[in-house]
Amino acid sequence: HQHEELIGDLSGKKVLISAGPTREMVDPVRFFTNRSSGKMGFALAEAAAAQGAEVTLIAGPSEQELKEQNIHRVNVVTAAEMYEEMHRHYAASDIVIKAAAVADYKPKHVYTEKMKKQGGNLQLEMERTQDILMSLGNKKDKQFLVGFAAETNEPLKYGLQKLRAKNLDAIVINNVAAQGAGFEGDTNMVTYVNKQEDKNEIGLATKKEVAKTIIQLILRDMKDGAM
Ligand code: CTP
Ligand code: CA
Repeated sequence: HQHEELIGDLSGKKVLISAGPTREMVDPVRFFTNRSSGKMGFALAEAAAAQGAEVTLIAGPSEQELKEQNIHRVNVVTAAEMYEEMHRHYAASDIVIKAAAVADYKPKHVYTEKMKKQGGNLQLEMERTQDILMSLGNKKDKQFLVGFAAETNEPLKYGLQKLRAKNLDAIVINNVAAQGAGFEGDTNMVTYVNKQEDKNEIGLATKKEVAKTIIQLILRDMKDGAM
């Protein structure tokens, strides 16, 4: 079929993307989550599919819907489920983009009955979830692995630390405190940095446009790396 604006050919390439928040249950009616809408990750899935890629989208709870029909969407809820699905599809993937906002902590104890309120304050003990992206970086072979960094303070410094610590090929640094950027809106403003530390500032644009540019930069870097 006819690709709109063919910017680089992804046909025959398998692209794995994670999007949206995760939810960590405390009891049957309550959970911890974050402000991620899933828009950026869904836009990336559609931008890759528009280039002919075979796309698998591992989606946390999100209102977003896909317009492209040829995307394999797998819905997950918790960080642990996202971990399982990302690893299940990882070996077969050529490009992996981790746009999801994964919970860093989950309640240590999950109550099977709805918690009753008590007098006084409540303290909940939280434990760390697994770092999915770090685990993918540790077992990377042929994959071009891209992470996101959500920062409100010194974005470039912390973004570069994550690029190195997680063995990534590129990172998309999102200053979520900037005007027009971040979680819920339809626009974003990010900096794409590859492992050579070439920095590409993608100015304020719709998430759809930002997604197209990110896919273009990934293709450029994969060509340069002679993959
Ligand atoms: N990530 C992940 N698994 C986690 C936490 C984060 O895969 N348990 C991934 C995110 O999907 C993102 C990247 O790691 O691609 C960076 O997430 P971010 O929250 O910005 O950084 P953290 O490494 O979690 O560090 P911190 O929140 O402390 O800044
Ligand atoms: Ca985090």
